[in-house]
Amino acid sequence: MKIGVIGAGRIGGNCARQAINAGHEVMLSFSRDPSKLDALAAELGSDRASVGSPAEAVAFGEVVILSVPWGAIPEALLAAGDLDGKIVVDTTNQFGSGPKPRAGETAASFNAARMPGARYVKSFNTLTSRFQADAAGRSAEDRVVQWICGDDEEAKALVAGLIEDMGYVPVDLGGTEACAVMEAPRRPGSVYGEEYRATDAQAVVDAVRAGAEIPPTPAYR
Ligand SMILES: NC(=O)c1ccc[n+]([C@@H]2O[C@H](COP(=O)([O-])OP(=O)(O)OC[C@H]3O[C@@H](n4cnc5c(N)ncnc54)[C@H](OP(=O)(O)O)[C@@H]3O)[C@@H](O)[C@H]2O)c1
Repeated sequence: MKIGVIGAGRIGGNCARQAINAGHEVMLSFSRDPSKLDALAAELGSDRASVGSPAEAVAFGEVVILSVPWGAIPEALLAAGDLDGKIVVDTTNQFGSGPKPRAGETAASFNAARMPGARYVKSFNTLTSRFQADAAGRSAEDRVVQWICGDDEEAKALVAGLIEDMGYVPVDLGGTEACAVMEAPRRPGSVYGEEYRATDAQAVVDAVRAGAEIPPTPAYR
C-alpha cells in the first residue's frame, strides 16, 4: 500500500518505519527543516521511502497519516489541500495551541469536520511514541491494541489491516462521536495512555457501545 505521511516526527516516523517494515511504501512530508525528511527517507530506504510536499503525500497515498502537533493542524491541512475521498488517519491529541473541540465534543469529531470529504479514522494516539516503537515487534497474545474510531466502516477496515501489518491489534471503538474514551487526557475510565491487549479489548468495546463505564484498566506482567 502507498502511504502519505504528513508530519514524520515521533509518531509519524514510527508509522512510516513500521509500514516500510511491513512492505508498504511511504512518502514523508511537512517539516520546518526538510533535510530531516531526507535523512529519515534515506534511513528507511530510498526504494520505498520518498519525500514530497503535503499535497504530494496526499496524492501519493491510498492512506494519509496526519501526525503533527495540535497547533500545527491548520497549517498542515492547508498544505495538504483537497482531502475529498482520501482515507486520513489522525494520530493527534488536543494539547497545546490552536482551536479546540467545544465541551462534550470529541477531538475526533472536531478534526473530522476540519477535513471535509476525508474518510476520517483516528488511531495511534493513545500510547507514547517510545512504547509504540517498542511494542510493534510483539507477537501473539502480547501484541498491544491500537484503538480505532471513525464513521466510515470501509476506511476503518482498511486501516485496521494496515495496523495489523504494523504489528498491533486493531480494535474498533465505534464512531467519532462515541470515542471520548480513547482521547486525552489520561484519566480513570479511559483507555488513553494505557496498554491493552486483545483479551481485554472486547469488554471495553462492549461497554462503550452500551454507554457504560469501561472495566478497570488491566495490568500486564
Ligand atoms: N509523542 C507521543 O508520545 C504521542 C503519542 C500519541 C499521539 N501523539 C500525537 O501525535 C501528534 C504528533 O506527535 P509527535 O510526538 O510525533 O510530534 P513530533 O515528534 O513533534 O512530530 C511532529 C512533526 O510535525 C512536523 N512539523 C511541520 N511543521 C510543523 C510546525 N509548524 N510545528 C510543529 N511541527 C511541525 C515536525 O517536523 P519538524 O520538527 O522537522 O519541523 C515533526 O516531524 C501530536 O498531535 C501528538 O499529540 C503523540
